[in-house]
Amino acid sequence: MRNKIVAGNWKMNKTLQEGIELAKGVNDLLKKNAPKCTVILGTPFIHLTEVVKTVDNKLIKVSAENCADKEKGAYTGEVSAAMVKSTGAEYVILGHSERRGYYGETYEILKEKVQLALANGLKVIFCIGESLEEREANKQNAVVKAELEGSVFNLSAAEFANIVIAYEPIWAIGTGKTATSDQAEEIHAYIRSVIADKYGKEVAENTSILYGGSCKASNAKELFAKPDIDGGLIGGASLKPEDFYGIIEAYN
Ligand code: 13P
Repeated sequence: MRNKIVAGNWKMNKTLQEGIELAKGVNDLLKKNAPKCTVILGTPFIHLTEVVKTVDNKLIKVSAENCADKEKGAYTGEVSAAMVKSTGAEYVILGHSERRGYYGETYEILKEKVQLALANGLKVIFCIGESLEEREANKQNAVVKAELEGSVFNLSAAEFANIVIAYEPIWAIGTGKTATSDQAEEIHAYIRSVIADKYGKEVAENTSILYGGSCKASNAKELFAKPDIDGGLIGGASLKPEDFYGIIEAYN
């Protein structure tokens, strides 16, 4: 059975102190009620070390939200995959639509980032998903396929085993507009079929595919009940312990 995952993506929110409080809050809730899924906190770089120290590693894994496309050296302001790994973080989120859209991350740049992350022993939560315009033109399947082909289908099957896919339709992110569970299931099943065509059925069956985009406690259960939805990548609702816990509880 493939791994079920609820991952938070704090984005550019929380000071260091606030972030430690949030991590502590989630940890306390999970200490009382052990999660039935893998729980990941995706935090800004500066929080990683402290959040790793704050949480019980058996209950919560820690993820960065980005890493550099270069190994090391004169790249002022960048943070390498090796640096992320050295904090104790185990995952990195790559390919988020906000990185693609605001910071010009291309398929090629993301390919470099994914390779460096894996080479440094990190697991990758790789985000894909279409814009509203693309959905309205019924191009969503072509978009997600191209994103996979452009940045992760160069990997060997063994490397691909360290990739978690997050399907995040851009029109659903932070908008309160969730994809319906049927809409999400349809494209998740398609994504799995594309992975099966590339790596075979077994690899596809073992790949966790998360849904992201206005996922909250009130819709998580219905989304996660779908056969090809293996959990969620959560933005806004990961910023309060109770809200985030409400989503984790969908697996209880
Ligand atoms: P929201 O949950 O705020 O819609 O954000 C989703 C997301 O972008 C997670 O990466």
